[in-house]
Amino acid sequence: MTDADKVFQSYGRSCNSPSFYEDFYSNFMGKSPEIRAMFTNTDMTSQRSLLRGGIMWLVMHARGMSDTKIRALGESHSRSKMNINPMFYGMWLDALVDTLEKHDPDFSQELEQSWRNALRPSIEMIQSMY
Ligand code: HEM
Repeated sequence: MTDADKVFQSYGRSCNSPSFYEDFYSNFMGKSPEIRAMFTNTDMTSQRSLLRGGIMWLVMHARGMSDTKIRALGESHSRSKMNINPMFYGMWLDALVDTLEKHDPDFSQELEQSWRNALRPSIEMIQSMY
């Protein structure tokens, strides 16, 4: 199985629990007060469901889907729109890994590496569009 296939299955085991997205944002906001501040006026109920789709786009891009959705994220998170500095994506990915570790019963260090490898190209594309 490729990294992308392993990640697709791992997300399948994790993505159905609403607490996955609550835990993700609590992990992510816990990484930096600057990150927490960005979500003070956000409706977190809808944000959690937007993230559910967003992670799926990254996973599908890793599996060979077109980069249209990734480019849309690059655009919306860019300097002239939401102004998300590229340095925050490392914390985003660490928060995702922390969350997967808790929610995927089959999580392992090897699977963590598969996630990091599979998502790297999409994240680099979003960062490069800043
Ligand atoms: C909004 C996904 C990384 C901060 C969104 C939205 C999605 C999303 C789907 C909804 C709007 C849209 O479609 O553009 C993602 C994914 C990420 C990522 C998949 C990783 C690759 C980040 C990072 C930050 C961030 C690193 C930095 C703190 C925000 C903020 C909003 C947002 C502030 C708007 C919230 C609001 O509407 O109040 N993100 N995001 N995102 N994201 Fe991200």
